[in-house]
Amino acid sequence: MSDIDSGKISIGDIEEAHLDSIAEISKLCFSNMYEFDWYENAGNMLKLFRQGRVIVRVIKIGEKAAGFCNLRSWPCGGWIDLIAISPEYQNKGLGSLLLEDIKEKAKSTGYWKISLIVSEREEKVISFYKRNGFIIVGEMLDEIKRGVNGILMSCIVDYELHPNKD
Ligand SMILES: CC(C)(COP(=O)(O)OP(=O)(O)OC[C@H]1O[C@@H](n2cnc3c(N)ncnc32)[C@H](O)[C@@H]1OP(=O)(O)O)[C@@H](O)C(=O)NCCC(=O)NCCS
Repeated sequence: MSDIDSGKISIGDIEEAHLDSIAEISKLCFSNMYEFDWYENAGNMLKLFRQGRVIVRVIKIGEKAAGFCNLRSWPCGGWIDLIAISPEYQNKGLGSLLLEDIKEKAKSTGYWKISLIVSEREEKVISFYKRNGFIIVGEMLDEIKRGVNGILMSCIVDYELHPNKD
């Protein structure tokens, strides 16, 4: 029985020990979209997490990091920059588990909604987010993937946390 079948899935905060796996997963998932030093990027995420400036959650199967997601403050709630599941573990529900976890984190941080941008070409990713409660709210230029049209998507995690609510 595999570790996924036997339920050894856990989600926790980023740690130093996860950095190589996060960099490898990022490289596998994003090298065709972004040009980054993924090792430096993983280290920066840990640094910002330790400064309390970003939430970074890591999903593990047994002791092996299988994916991660980050969430930072945005003027209207929280913003997901990256979510990635290692290709060998995709389509098994791990990405959805990670999003559920990040929504809980958003709520406990006081964010009433979460937003993100997806390239309009990434139909599979758009449908992944839709199935997980996100809706398309508009279009915006992707400042990182320059020249690519971005689809802005949001998910309200707790309307009671809306800043205009009395
Ligand atoms: C987008 C991404 C994070 C989704 O993670 P994932 O773990 O594959 O997501 P899920 O398994 O929860 O859902 C994906 C698909 O698996 C299916 N699925 C969910 N649970 C499943 C299970 N237990 N068994 C089989 N399939 C399952 C879902 O129905 C969904 O299918 P569909 O969208 O094709 O209809 C992942 O594909 C990824 O890392 N992509 C590369 C990086 C990227 O593009 N990130 C997003 C932009 S930052």
